[in-house]
This record gives sequence, structure tokens and C-alpha cells, in this order.
Amino acid sequence: MRASRDPHGVPDLLGFSGRRYLVTGVLNDDSIAWHTARALQEAGAEVLLTGFGRTRRITEAAASGLPYPADVLELDVTRPEDLDALTKELERRWGAVDGVLHAIAAAPQSALSGNFLTTSVEDATLALRTAAFSLHSLTTALAPLLREGGGAGAARGSVVGLDFDSSGAWPGYDWMGVGKATLGAVCRYLALYLGHSGIRVNLVAAGPVETVAGRAVSTFDRIADRWEQEAPLGWSRADPARLVGPVLFLLSDLAATVTGEIVHADGGMHAVRMGAGAVGEPPGIGAPPRAGKEDRS
Ligand SMILES: NC(=O)c1ccc[n+]([C@@H]2O[C@H](COP(=O)([O-])OP(=O)(O)OC[C@H]3O[C@@H](n4cnc5c(N)ncnc54)[C@H](O)[C@@H]3O)[C@@H](O)[C@H]2O)c1
Repeated sequence: MRASRDPHGVPDLLGFSGRRYLVTGVLNDDSIAWHTARALQEAGAEVLLTGFGRTRRITEAAASGLPYPADVLELDVTRPEDLDALTKELERRWGAVDGVLHAIAAAPQSALSGNFLTTSVEDATLALRTAAFSLHSLTTALAPLLREGGGAGAARGSVVGLDFDSSGAWPGYDWMGVGKATLGAVCRYLALYLGHSGIRVNLVAAGPVETVAGRAVSTFDRIADRWEQEAPLGWSRADPARLVGPVLFLLSDLAATVTGEIVHADGGMHAVRMGAGAVGEPPGIGAPPRAGKEDRS
């Protein structure tokens, strides 16, 4: 169902009205993808979600909680037959796709949470396949439809993936961290090979937020504590909605010249070493903002 323009919703500054977006990775209403789907609908876009297997019913419940209940299409991104069926269904419904959110990651516990040195090649491969190769699988499957999407000059459809800063090694993140480093490289190569078709591929590197995927990492609280204490702009693990702005920007025609990019939506954490706490209060300017666990917005 197409969302109509809501005069009280997100203004259509980004040109989403009437556009069509596939949003993967909605598990529940904590999912970063759920907040993205909601914002897209509020901006006038039409949205379809994906879900799969045992958790599909949970995704369907979350889909019914969106401003405009969205259909959920089957997609286990590691199954070529699902990608085939998804592409055919999107072609049947829409003909063209204006953008895709890739919000997919999963790894066996044996590949996470301090098990790095003993992970089997099968489990490491599964983590890499789900977290990184899946951006290639999804984007190449939908490329014919993305080539027909978009609208600003030569810009066609836009693909955005969700990343976590992989410039260093995080305790416990293990093969998922290797997966995210690989995801960055996959993004750049997709940008290289699909640029001539006008298809853009970018990532948003998010700070830690409390979701099922986030919680699967045993060190999540330690990482999130550090973020909340040290990010220059402050941070809140309880606020996935704050990540949506950069995702919408990259999906929109405002980012028509941007591809192969990683935008950090992390309160500035990637840019600092000792953290904002080490700076103290700058003379004459006032205390730096500290969001902590409480939402200040
Ligand atoms: N939560 C965080 O702190 C954080 C930080 C940075 C990046 N991210 C990334 O954001 C993305 C979304 O995660 P989230 O935090 O919203 O958690 P989430 O648990 O809500 O979402 C993860 C999604 O991945 C989907 N998924 C897993 N395996 C799949 C498969 N084989 N095929 C299709 N879908 C599959 C799940 O169904 C789920 O919807 C992930 O890529 C994650 O790595 C999360």
C-alpha cells in the first residue's frame, strides 16, 4: 500500500513521495530497519519488507505496527532461490525499485564473543556470507530493477547497507568484525561495477544500539558504555531512530553524487582516540553534550 503524504509527518524534502523501497532486516520495532521503514513511509514512500523462516511471524507483527502496514516478502539472503523469487515479485509489483536497505547480519556464537581463535572455517564463512557477501547477492539480484529506479539525472536506484566501524578490532565482535571490514570492500567494488548503471552503493556505520543483533555480541554493554561516555556528540544505545537520517540521505537524490562511501552515524566516535571525556570542559564554551542512556532529544 502506498503511503499518502501526511501533513504532520516527515516533510518531503528528500523527494521520497511516491518512491518505492525494499527494506530488509526488520525483526522487531527495535530494528534499525523498522525505524527506517517508518521514516520512509512518513515521507510518502511505499515500502516492502523482507523476513524469513522461523522469525518471519515476528517481522510480520512489526510490519503491522508501521504507520501503513507493509507486506513481508520471503528472503533468506543466503538462498539464491529466495533472491530469484524476490526479484520476480518486485518486478511484478513495482517494475522498478528506487532503493534498498540492507540491514542484515548474523553469525553463529562460535564466531563471536571471544571465540575468534577457535572458529571453524564453516562458521566464519557463514558469518562472512551473511554479513558481507549478502550485499553483493542482494544488490546484483535487484540491479535490473534498481537500474529502472531513482530519478535525479543519471542517478538510478540507491543501495544502503549498515556497517559497524571496522578500522580496528573490537573484543567479542570477532568474525562479525571481519565481516564488516569485508562489507566495506564489497560496497566499494559494487560502487565500481554498478556506477555506470547509475546505481549507488553506500554504507552507514552506526554506533551501538540495543537490538537482537547487537545483543548477540557478548561485549555489547562494554562497547555501548564506552560510546556513551566518550562519543563527542554523546550517544544512546536506546535510540535506533537517530540512525535513520544518514540512511535517508544516502537513499535520496541529495546523495546523487555519492557512492562507495561510509557515513559514520556514531556520535563522532570513529574520529577520536581518547574520547570526549578526556577533553574536559572547554573554557568559555560549556560542557560537551552527554546523552548517556537517557534520550535528550
Ligand atoms: N545494533 C547495533 O549496535 C548495530 C551497529 C552497527 C551496525 N548494525 C547493523 O545493522 C544491521 C541491522 O541490525 P539491527 O541492529 O537492527 O538488528 P536486528 O536483529 O533487528 O536485525 C538483524 C536482521 O538481520 C536479518 N537476517 C539475519 N540473517 C539473515 C538472512 N540469512 N537473510 C535475511 N535476513 C537475515 C534478521 O532477520 C534481522 O531482521 C546489521 O547489519 C547490523 O550488523 C547494528
